Amino acid sequence: MRVPMIAGNWKMNTTVGEAVDLVKTMRKNLDKISNVDKVICPPFVSLATIRELIKKSSIKLGAQNLYFAEKGAYTGEISPLMLADLCEFVIIGHSERRQYFNETGEIVNQKIAAALKVSLKPILCIGERLEENEAGKTEEVVAEQLNSSLAGIDDLNGLLIAYEPVWAIGTGKAATGEQANETISFIRRNVARLYDDKIAREIRILYGGSVTSANAAEFMQQPEIDGALVGGASLKDTEFLSIVTQTAVIKPRK
Ligand code: PGA
Repeated sequence: MRVPMIAGNWKMNTTVGEAVDLVKTMRKNLDKISNVDKVICPPFVSLATIRELIKKSSIKLGAQNLYFAEKGAYTGEISPLMLADLCEFVIIGHSERRQYFNETGEIVNQKIAAALKVSLKPILCIGERLEENEAGKTEEVVAEQLNSSLAGIDDLNGLLIAYEPVWAIGTGKAATGEQANETISFIRRNVARLYDDKIAREIRILYGGSVTSANAAEFMQQPEIDGALVGGASLKDTEFLSIVTQTAVIKPRK
């Protein structure tokens, strides 16, 4: 049985003070929901403070990125070792990193390997751009991203995948539950091809892209979708709580 997960990707939003306020507003209600993994991914500068704030709660922490080297002369970068002390998850290969920071499949692959080496659980993001979607290339693109991201990785060790069609991110134009379910099912079959059926059955695959409290149920009702990576709506306490609550009702842990 795959435990559903709702992860909030705060992106480059919130000062430390704002992050503290947001966690304090959400903490108590989120903590009450026990059959969903609730993960928040604030900016690096807030991780240590938030870690303390949620220490006694069931809320888990993730980072939004890392660099693959362990340490050294890489001014401005954050290493896997530094994060391993602070959080459990790390988003890797988000489309905004691929688009604005030139992250290639090879870089994503190195980051995945580096995260797994220190037992951080990567949330690997893959998804097609609008023109690729319109050209009917969705499956080709996600299969290629999966192959390159996971090249040479033998043990997935808690890795999750987030299917995030780029055209749905921050646009208010989400995929339909059915579309997302179909592509996620395709991704799962590819995991079986690259690894085996058991790993494919167990790996959690999230949908991401304009998920809100209004459409969350549509995604959670789909059998292949194990949760959501939520951007904009994760910055509003009532929205995030509603998405988590709906997930707990629709996908009860057995
Ligand atoms: P969005 O972002 O929910 O604001 O579309 C999702 C994401 O980028 O992870």
